Amino acid sequence: MRGREDDVSYSTKHTALSVRPAVIHDAEAILEIIQPYVDEDIVLPIPGYRLYERIRDFVVAEREGMIVGCGSLMIMWHDLAEIRSLAVRKGCQGGGVGRHIVDVLIDEAITLGISKVFALTYETTFFGRSGFDVVEKETLPHKVWKDCTHCARFTHCDEIPMARILIPDEQRDPDHLLPPLPPPDPNLIMPQSKI
Ligand SMILES: CC(C)(COP(=O)(O)OP(=O)(O)OC[C@H]1O[C@@H](n2cnc3c(N)ncnc32)[C@H](O)[C@@H]1OP(=O)(O)O)[C@@H](O)C(=O)NCCC(=O)NCCS
Repeated sequence: MRGREDDVSYSTKHTALSVRPAVIHDAEAILEIIQPYVDEDIVLPIPGYRLYERIRDFVVAEREGMIVGCGSLMIMWHDLAEIRSLAVRKGCQGGGVGRHIVDVLIDEAITLGISKVFALTYETTFFGRSGFDVVEKETLPHKVWKDCTHCARFTHCDEIPMARILIPDEQRDPDHLLPPLPPPDPNLIMPQSKI
């Protein structure tokens, strides 16, 4: 598993970018980066207390001493994790920051032995570039939608579920796995989506 000292550096066409595990002092920058997207209902808000609880899930991208992006890997079950709170600072988009954050989160998921990573997103081209495919929302377990009840768009959700398989079913060791989470109960209220 990654150590807190881990730091994955990349050289972009402009300047060096490093993606590293977040520390407590990054919380303010993370909130500052995601807030414009929260205001646009693109990213779910995170209350401060929740961010501190989840700070170990986060990585930040740093360029020339400035935090330019963030993202988190939230583990749902033995075989499933979500990329959440992914955001690149306004004005810093289109320079590979988002891709490098996703690369690091995927590497972490692989190290942890997680077989599938998903995201609920409007950015289908971006995630498609990182190997994600659009999936039916019914293929994701009900637990995935738990936090959606806090979202302003819960009853008219048009985010698109996308997933990337990291370990195919046939390569997983069934002797060491808990049963999969049950799929969503169609009788419970589910967010509506386009697909
Ligand atoms: C989506 C987001 C994370 C992308 O980060 P980014 O740093 O701008 O993206 P990158 O520069 O790493 O782009 C990687 C690739 O995706 C493509 N891409 C990125 N955003 C795109 C978009 N909106 N439309 C089409 N293609 C896009 C890039 O052209 C690039 O393609 P390439 O493989 O040909 O080089 C960023 O725009 C963002 O913060 N968006 C708002 C918050 C959000 O939607 N988060 C996702 C929630 S799940």
